[in-house]
Amino acid sequence: MKYTEFGLVNTRTMFADAIARKYAVPAFNFYNMETLNAILSAARTTHSPVILGVSESAMKYMGSDMLMGLIRGANIHHNEQIALHLDHGGTIDACIRAIDMGFSSVMIDASKLPFEENIKITKSVVEYAHAHDVSVEAELGTLSGIEDENTQSATSSYTNPDDVVKFVDATGIDSLAIAIGTSHGAYKRKSADEELRFDILQRIADMLPKFPLVLHGASQIPTDLVNTINEFGGDMPNARGIAPEQLRHATKMNICKINVDSDLRLAMTASVRKSMAANPANFNPREYLGAGTKEMTTVCIDEIKNIMGSDNKLPHIS
Ligand code: G3H
Ligand code: 13P
Ligand code: ZN
Repeated sequence: MKYTEFGLVNTRTMFADAIARKYAVPAFNFYNMETLNAILSAARTTHSPVILGVSESAMKYMGSDMLMGLIRGANIHHNEQIALHLDHGGTIDACIRAIDMGFSSVMIDASKLPFEENIKITKSVVEYAHAHDVSVEAELGTLSGIEDENTQSATSSYTNPDDVVKFVDATGIDSLAIAIGTSHGAYKRKSADEELRFDILQRIADMLPKFPLVLHGASQIPTDLVNTINEFGGDMPNARGIAPEQLRHATKMNICKINVDSDLRLAMTASVRKSMAANPANFNPREYLGAGTKEMTTVCIDEIKNIMGSDNKLPHIS
């Protein structure tokens, strides 16, 4: 089914505006009704464009019919500038399946393969995607951090700025994910003042002027949420993320999509733990899941306003 039938848009217009006005479009991951409702409610409240990220494991968790049923049930209008994006697609087939289901954007993540193979696979995805007016993100360099089989990487290597022009020209991609020191999950940094490699970002931005760049693994890992989790029975010592001012700085340097998943996981987990501890007799999941949805919405709104700068950026608002 074509994505326009769900009211979705591809990322082309939103990225052009983000580059021109120096902000980032948020890409939040969802995997159930609660995460989808939280993300949409935050985007709608703040009049922000948004990218709904779905990993392959999230797709497996929901089932493709349920996933597209949730999207249909969200009553999305194309004026809202909402894209449905396959996050870390591991194969050409996975990308094609997502496009045929109604995704408006896909990431082909062949970043762990040799450079020339990454080009070859990415190019095949671009050919299919562009024939369906779907945008394509690919990655150069690798992020560390443990997520699932498609994002697992024990080591990291920064993106080599000398590779980017050849890669973009040879593949025809619409946006490029780069590795400058972020990583997936809740344990990103040894210390709070560790800096991202802005020197590498600057060189890439110079090589690819006005080209949309993407930052994965960009959760802040808010200390208050980690503390709440640990206070109510959790065990997440030394969880640490990326400082908000560094993320804000990146949005001024052609980073026009910032991926966040872990912060929403923390918000839900902190809230559920707290709610269960406060109401030990409650056994109605709607109470703690409702509280969790509210907390995730708060996190999304905060990041839209204070990191992405994407609030009030919809064409009919601004
Ligand atoms: O970048 C990876 C996302 O956090 C997805 O993780 O595959 O566990 O859904 P997941
Ligand atoms: P975090 O683990 O930092 O939230 O990163 C999410 C991500 O990159 C999804 O693709
Ligand atoms: Zn990622």
